[in-house]
Amino acid sequence: MNPVMAWHEEHAYFGRLLLVLQEEVDRLYAGSTPNYELVLDIISYLRDYSDQVHHPREDEAFKRLARHSPELRPILVRLHQEHRVIAQSGDRLRELVEEAASDAVVSRADIEAAASTYIVYYRTTSTWRKRKCFRSRRVRSPRRIGRRPGPSRPRR
Ligand SMILES: [Fe+2]
Repeated sequence: MNPVMAWHEEHAYFGRLLLVLQEEVDRLYAGSTPNYELVLDIISYLRDYSDQVHHPREDEAFKRLARHSPELRPILVRLHQEHRVIAQSGDRLRELVEEAASDAVVSRADIEAAASTYIVYYRTTSTWRKRKCFRSRRVRSPRRIGRRPGPSRPRR
């Protein structure tokens, strides 16, 4: 599979998980008890896979893109910052939900605020800025980013 398509599929999957997470936060807001186990599973997946595999891969692609397309640097720096906010807000959200799941006294407003920050940043970083980067005329695939111009391969 083309790496850009794989990226889009990952983002689509993350988007579905964020919808489920949002539904659980909505339950909390409505005064019900969310499924904390499900919430922790989603946060753990997003934190562990995304922050240890997906985002570092993107950050490397952004570095290469910045070298190749300097006009994109402000956007790419912003995306890198968003990854750091997602990591920190994800840690905070996981702490709060773990406490709530273990029957500790945790403010609903604190969980809602942490979850909202997490969800908003996650959705934002997966949408328009990246599309804009990868729609650049000069860069169609991360594989091409590091490729140097040279003679084309002979055709048979
Ligand atoms: Fe991403």
